[in-house]
Amino acid sequence: MAELTLLDASPEGGAFDLIVVGVPAGSAAPDALPANCAETYERAQAAGVFRGRAGDELSFGDPSWVVIGVGKAEDVDPRALREFAGRAVRAAESRRRTSVALLWPGAVDADGVQALAEGLLLAAWDFRELKKVDPEKVAPLVERVGLRAPGASASDTEEAVRIARATAEGQNLARRLQNLPGNRMTPTLLGEAAQEMAAEVGLEAEIWGPERLEAERMHALLSVSKGSDEEPRLIILRHRGGTDGAGPVALVGKGLTFDAGGISLKPPQGMEDMKFDMSGGAAVVGAMCAIARANLPINVLGVVASSENLMNGRANKPGDVIDSRKGKTIEVINTDAEGRLILADALAWTVEQGAKTIVDCATLTGSCVIALGHHASGLFSPSESLTTELREAGERSGQRCWPLPVWDVYRKQLDSPVADLKNVGGRPAGSITAARFLQEFVGDTVWAHLDIAGTAYGDDPAPYLRKGGFGVPTRLLFEWVRARSA
Ligand code: BES
Ligand code: ZN
Ligand code: ZN
Repeated sequence: MAELTLLDASPEGGAFDLIVVGVPAGSAAPDALPANCAETYERAQAAGVFRGRAGDELSFGDPSWVVIGVGKAEDVDPRALREFAGRAVRAAESRRRTSVALLWPGAVDADGVQALAEGLLLAAWDFRELKKVDPEKVAPLVERVGLRAPGASASDTEEAVRIARATAEGQNLARRLQNLPGNRMTPTLLGEAAQEMAAEVGLEAEIWGPERLEAERMHALLSVSKGSDEEPRLIILRHRGGTDGAGPVALVGKGLTFDAGGISLKPPQGMEDMKFDMSGGAAVVGAMCAIARANLPINVLGVVASSENLMNGRANKPGDVIDSRKGKTIEVINTDAEGRLILADALAWTVEQGAKTIVDCATLTGSCVIALGHHASGLFSPSESLTTELREAGERSGQRCWPLPVWDVYRKQLDSPVADLKNVGGRPAGSITAARFLQEFVGDTVWAHLDIAGTAYGDDPAPYLRKGGFGVPTRLLFEWVRARSA
């Protein structure tokens, strides 16, 4: 990750390759600009060439300075600041500079400082480890970022940056795990990566393989992995930041390292994106990393169920009836609805651990992408207060989620003539019946499910992200846990 320094004045000449000043629409030349740049700024503004709309950029004869617009002053919120910081890093990259200082001329509060720092640290990261030839062809990465953002007290500013370093590290870790393809990110390797991270940040880690899963009666998870040569894993991470013995809040993720659909095979078009089917698991690993780094004063349990979904002579078949940890039998109508099977066991086990509240996240249904597109994760919970908490965490983090109902009337769609329930509920409300399926395995524990199929990865990223895995909802989960620990 890039190195971030807080600045309490404009940087000395030469300390950074590029200095980027943010300006709201219609502002006068910021004081920080040298006189000759300020003149250019005034002229550009008078001529209507630079208006300060979000993303407008103005360069000067002096190659050290750039001004970037952030839009109307009244619309400048953490989201806009995160995006502005991302654009500052991109401005440095396009000029092949490796250090950039960002100057915010007005005052921002601690949340604003956090957003600026997150934008810088997320934008500077890239997944390059599999490009081995001609590294010179791509622009060098920004290695050093400076931030001057007056407004909050020095201690609040320091604290905001400490949190931002934690969340960005967690999210960048999630992005890396997501971007590694199926042959390089198997359940075994995901378990190893989680264990390595845990050792580094001081989390307890336990990784279960097939024998332990068998002994623990995780039949639904095992049934999915039977169709593949890769062994399944259950990844268990514990952060003990709260009072001894206090029930933890739990984060549960779908870690399907490649989803071909199984016997209900997916069409080939775009199937390569199914390497991202472990995005929920990656976000849980990333959030646990951030929680440990930030040392949040709360007990948190992170659980990732990990498997491949392929096909062989032992794979689940449509019509098969499988067992589950909770004891309910499941008729597998479609082997491509595998995420809910592996989560069923992970959720049932998490409940047994005495979790107070559970939030799971999963690239669970294509239907959720149809409902909400790419700008909000689906949020499913019978609890109104948890719904409110998660929506607020979504706003704060810029990783929004939006509620859909999980009324009992949807349960009927899961009735099976031969088993306790079936794994698909037909075409109507596909993401709701998927959530309703999961609910069968959490009992009365307060729970919410986030369907991140449309938000976890993509081609059209925010300015501080790149094409590929976005690390969503790492910061949403972190902010939710942080609010819980306050
Ligand atoms: N991993 C997919 C869901 C998905 C689809 C994620 C598109 C990201 C983009 C999941 O395992 C799946 O295949 N779900 C099926 C469920 C159906 C068979 C009821 C789906 O959404 O089509
Ligand atoms: Zn599937
Ligand atoms: Zn899947």
